Amino acid sequence: MANLNLVQLVSVALVLTASTSGTASATAVKGIYWMDQPLFPASTINTSLFTHVYYAFLAPNATTFKLYVSNSSNITLTNFITAFRTRIPTILSIGGSNATSFSLIFSNNTTRATFINSTISVARAYGFDGVDLDWEFPQNSDDTNNLGSLFQEWRIAITADAALTRKPPLLLTAAVYFAVDFFLSDNPRTYPVTSINQNVDWVNVMSYNFHGSWNNDTGAPSGLFNPTRNISVVDGLKSWIGAGVKPEKLVMGMPLYGMTWQLEDPKVNGIGAAVMGPGPGSNGAMAYFKVLEFNMQKNAKVVYDVDTMSVYSYSGSYWIGYDDPLTVTAKVGYAQALSLGGYFFWAAGYDTNNWKISTQASKAWIVS
Ligand SMILES: *[C@@H]1O[C@H](CO)[C@@H](O)[C@H](O)[C@H]1NC(C)=O
Ligand SMILES: *[C@@H]1O[C@H](CO)[C@@H](O)[C@H](O)[C@H]1NC(C)=O
Ligand SMILES: *[C@@H]1O[C@H](CO)[C@@H](O)[C@H](O)[C@H]1NC(C)=O
Ligand SMILES: *[C@@H]1O[C@H](CO)[C@@H](O)[C@H](O)[C@H]1NC(C)=O
Ligand SMILES: *[C@@H]1O[C@H](CO)[C@@H](O)[C@H](O)[C@H]1NC(C)=O
Ligand SMILES: *[C@@H]1O[C@H](CO)[C@@H](O)[C@H](O)[C@H]1NC(C)=O
Ligand SMILES: *[C@@H]1O[C@H](CO)[C@@H](O)[C@H](O)[C@H]1NC(C)=O
Ligand SMILES: *[C@@H]1O[C@H](CO)[C@@H](O)[C@H](O)[C@H]1NC(C)=O
Ligand SMILES: *[C@@H]1O[C@H](CO)[C@@H](O)[C@H](O)[C@H]1NC(C)=O
Ligand SMILES: *[C@@H]1O[C@H](CO)[C@@H](O)[C@H](O)[C@H]1NC(C)=O
Repeated sequence: MANLNLVQLVSVALVLTASTSGTASATAVKGIYWMDQPLFPASTINTSLFTHVYYAFLAPNATTFKLYVSNSSNITLTNFITAFRTRIPTILSIGGSNATSFSLIFSNNTTRATFINSTISVARAYGFDGVDLDWEFPQNSDDTNNLGSLFQEWRIAITADAALTRKPPLLLTAAVYFAVDFFLSDNPRTYPVTSINQNVDWVNVMSYNFHGSWNNDTGAPSGLFNPTRNISVVDGLKSWIGAGVKPEKLVMGMPLYGMTWQLEDPKVNGIGAAVMGPGPGSNGAMAYFKVLEFNMQKNAKVVYDVDTMSVYSYSGSYWIGYDDPLTVTAKVGYAQALSLGGYFFWAAGYDTNNWKISTQASKAWIVS
């Protein structure tokens, strides 16, 4: 693995950025997901760095097929909208990695209609500007076909609602797998490309979690490139474009957290080094601001790896792979070179309190 120094890596990042095609638009999506966290109120988000703030999450009730709003969510939703209303568009995200029952609800046009109706009602009741589906993940080709129908029916309902309320139509977005097809699964399936192009404003491509505590070696959790397998940000985005999704409908995801491991041998500490299991943090994941604390407190060695365009740090037997302002600059440049619609982050509260990564990403998106 080529370990470049900082100056060399900056040059690579600049070359990538300079290769943008010049179709950059001022209306790039710069999204961020916020989840209910006592230590990080929504009002702390610096809205000048983003174009859309996502509320994560509500989920449907598996019996009624309608969005379930608990009394505590009711308060959180109200505070969220109060923080952002009139300042920045807000999108209600439905699902998340813990949500179940989508497969059942979406399998039938009647239950789909109940679900869709409920999402629009709740979004309008609180004053959201859009709705987002984060289904992790459709499991088979029936699921992906039903997802195509869902998007189509959702679009029709949103158009009807806009006509009825004389308000701008709600935005419709969805968080999706890093690649257009689930090629690593025993049950191959492909997202409904035509329906996405026709009905969805954009998809948030989850271009991360490629490598984590489930692996037996270290790796770039969201490497822009991957010299050994086609599991990378670029491979995934190219699969979406290759399948016919319009590039402007694609929004590239970036993690504001790293993945951590415990090395088997502290002296073997590159990418692909054998590990014993997850390192510090929460189940082997660590917010970016905590990675910086770790690096400082442990006097960790920080290494840029240009083969993956990622950064890692290690100290003793602990190893962390993550993104920082420099790797994010390269990613944003690449997203523009592909004429994508923008980028998003998971999640608010994980950046430094002065928004180092988010600020750099916003600056790196060049408006021509
Ligand atoms: C928010 O970000 C903008 C743009 O980088 C910056 O000028 C401003 O100082 C930031 N505000 C806060 C409160 O951090
Ligand atoms: C879902 O709806 C059913 C029927 O109204 C209700 O009995 C159940 O408590 C609800 N579940 C949740 C988690 O709210
Ligand atoms: C939710 O709040 C309403 C009043 O707004 C109350 O009647 C109801 O019992 C509360 N539900 C729960 C589960 O606390
Ligand atoms: C949310 O809270 C408000 C104010 O307490 C109340 O009027 C409203 O009925 C609640 N909505 C839901 C869905 O519980
Ligand atoms: C999912 O559920 C687990 C266990 O209840 C919880 O710790 C985690 O925060 C949840 N994740 C999300 C994204 O809601
Ligand atoms: C769809 O669900 C409705 C209500 O649960 C049921 O009456 C209907 O038979 C279902 N349709 C199909 C095609 O399964
Ligand atoms: C569901 O599909 C059936 C058969 O195509 C149709 O008769 C029915 O009107 C549809 N229901 C809804 C709610 O769209
Ligand atoms: C949802 O369904 C109800 C009952 O049919 C209807 O009154 C309402 O207008 C619908 N809402 C939306 C947003 O479609
Ligand atoms: C990776 O390569 C496999 C085998 O050629 C292919 O089926 C899959 O679609 C590719 N995936 C990506 C994201 O490039
Ligand atoms: C991890 O597991 C794979 C497949 O079992 C094996 O080929 C590889 O050598 C292992 N890597 C390490 C670093 O132990």
